Amino acid sequence: MRLVLKPIIPVLVAFFGAIASACSPYTDQPIRSGEIWPDDRGEHINAHGGGILVHDGTFYWFGEHKGERSSSAFVGVTCYSSKDLVNWKYEGVALSVSDDPASDITRGCTLERPKVIYNKKTGKFVMWFHLELRGRGYSAARAAVAVSDNVTGPYTYIGSGRVNPGIPAENVTDADLAYIDALQEIPRSWTPEWLEAISKGLYYKRDFAGGQMSRDMTLFVDDDGKAYHIYAAEENLTLNIAELSDDYQSHSGRYVRVAPAGHNEAPAIFKRNGTYWMITSGCTGWDPNAARMFSAPSIFGPWTQHPNPCRGEKSEITYGGQSTFILPVPGKKDLFIFMADIWRPRNPIDARYIWLPIQFEQDGTPYLEWLDEWNIKDYK
Ligand code: DGJ
Repeated sequence: MRLVLKPIIPVLVAFFGAIASACSPYTDQPIRSGEIWPDDRGEHINAHGGGILVHDGTFYWFGEHKGERSSSAFVGVTCYSSKDLVNWKYEGVALSVSDDPASDITRGCTLERPKVIYNKKTGKFVMWFHLELRGRGYSAARAAVAVSDNVTGPYTYIGSGRVNPGIPAENVTDADLAYIDALQEIPRSWTPEWLEAISKGLYYKRDFAGGQMSRDMTLFVDDDGKAYHIYAAEENLTLNIAELSDDYQSHSGRYVRVAPAGHNEAPAIFKRNGTYWMITSGCTGWDPNAARMFSAPSIFGPWTQHPNPCRGEKSEITYGGQSTFILPVPGKKDLFIFMADIWRPRNPIDARYIWLPIQFEQDGTPYLEWLDEWNIKDYK
């Protein structure tokens, strides 16, 4: 039997390969970072600091709507859908800002880095975002949540606040807290002594009762269905990774501090072969800086820092962008798309997108190289 089949194996492989490729949603159209990306209406996609949810074979891209003069939220969170990650249909405003001046999300608030995940148990779509109250700069530092029964919305705003008030982080030790308690005075900012105090939990302790600050953020759903909220806490000096409740609409109370005093924002995370990888940026406002990379064997750490994953020209400024999300592409075993924003604070609506395929060393370490254009179809 084996002898009979042998000559036709290449024919079968070619046949099924042709069928798989005919069924593939991905097109020959390339991805060109930094250019204008028109949607189905011919308008540049307006979904900044965003993330992508894959649901029932469709990609949904959620992001910040930006206007021509201000980065504040005058519209809300937009949604686009696509089957191939290149052609995007505008699905409208998924979460609208409110006309009520008393609302947390009143028009003119700051609403950044929205991410949406789907909860299989409740059948609801859950959106988290970074919220700053109108007129208060970046001082509120709140995590906000909204839900919907429909992926494209409308999403209903549930509430916002600091995270895990009165709940200890799992990796803060008694020795850390004793160090803070023993401080005679608060060291001058940015001195080694101050960074050491931050690292031991100076701001963690300051914010303990009211909850940890939450600015730049992302969400991650693990293979077991548990979801995590990863955000810049402690005045952007320390990242937190906090487990969400089973319905994804609140925090479970389990969380860790990551890279204390490391001054990271813009976290984006993925998991490959059992290792968690996180790419972040430094904190230089809207200006780009060098990306940072971390890995861990468990979502709760320990997290180890690696060198800047970017290589080549402009690697010291992440090719002009700042990380926002990493998408594992379904049907493409080793394709993880690194997504970043090229901010244009003088004309925020003109901000551009960087999407690059993450490459891997033999030992599995990820790295990035700029590509003028590339095609999803070329990846297995
Ligand atoms: C960098 C952050 O990553 C952005 O989301 C935004 O908050 C800007 N800072 C504001 O300066």
